[in-house]
Amino acid sequence: MAEKILIKKLSTKDQFEKLVEIQKTVWRHPDLDLTPVHQFSISCFMGGLVLGALVDDQLAGFVYSFPAIYQGKFCHHSHLLAVLPEYRGYGLGKRLKWAQRREVLKMGLDVVTWTYDPMQSRNANLNLHTLGGICRTYLPDFYGETPSLRLGSGIPADRLLVEWPIKTAPVEQKVRGKKELPLAPDSYPKVLEGKVASNGQYLPGKPRLRLKEPIILAETVPNVESLRPTPEVIAAWQAALRQVFKSYFGRGYAVIDFSFGEKCYYVLSNRLKNIMPEECGDRKKSCKKLKS
Ligand SMILES: CC(C)(COP(=O)(O)OP(=O)(O)OC[C@H]1O[C@@H](n2cnc3c(N)ncnc32)[C@H](O)[C@@H]1OP(=O)(O)O)[C@@H](O)C(=O)NCCC(=O)NCCS
Repeated sequence: MAEKILIKKLSTKDQFEKLVEIQKTVWRHPDLDLTPVHQFSISCFMGGLVLGALVDDQLAGFVYSFPAIYQGKFCHHSHLLAVLPEYRGYGLGKRLKWAQRREVLKMGLDVVTWTYDPMQSRNANLNLHTLGGICRTYLPDFYGETPSLRLGSGIPADRLLVEWPIKTAPVEQKVRGKKELPLAPDSYPKVLEGKVASNGQYLPGKPRLRLKEPIILAETVPNVESLRPTPEVIAAWQAALRQVFKSYFGRGYAVIDFSFGEKCYYVLSNRLKNIMPEECGDRKKSCKKLKS
């Protein structure tokens, strides 16, 4: 790949028009489901942020976020992150997110949120392992009215909400490129594991919903796109993961990491207070703070 890479703030109508084109290429959504130029214009005027990745002066990707309030606490909500297919795998996605973090810190905020489809394991790896986001909120069929945001006809558009605590030491270490030892999945209890069914399909087993260990793993599929021809398999994994997340989030667990490999695992823990700063970890307290 070319050497000249620049991450910069975008603010003009011409630049925003290019973002619409990038969305068309990356998501292939119908026009009605694209974020339009006027939305970028007004949100940037009102404290929003669009950062573009330029490779040899060509716009290769962008990240978009806007001010938001979540659970009584001010944050930025990141709604779009995209890199054109020919520029993927060169670190542009990461650079855009690190630059977004820097800019949001300058605004005096310490959390960035976004949603993603929990069946997309590469995105899970980026959000949870590479960037250090956590999840403790499951949004069943959140975008159900938008067919292009489903994994197939009749499959609910479930999402996990990522909270990215950008000021914490673990995230700071990730910015500095600190690599952790890979997790040894065999050492932890599994709340969900796949098994080969009699027809040869790799399907989720029955979730174990009564585990109490501090760290537990839930398996998921490495590449949901390859399962598009068998939507019943996607639906089975989605339903099993939904059951796991809803049950364990209700008992104080959060997703704190992701292990990507031939087999992929969500890592859940009930020791969130060790990771999140107090005001991020205690929602009731931050709601009270805002009200008073
Ligand atoms: C997601 C996306 C923006 C990543 O862009 P990118 O420039 O290719 O990403 P990077 O090269 O910076 O890689 C960032 C991380 O993504 C994850 N990732 C990327 N490719 C991966 C792969 N083949 N397998 C597993 N993880 C992968 C890794 O966590 C990687 O970090 P690492 O290199 O430290 O392991 C890009 O793939 C894209 O536009 N996808 C379609 C739109 C989309 O899904 N957006 C929502 C993202 S939540």
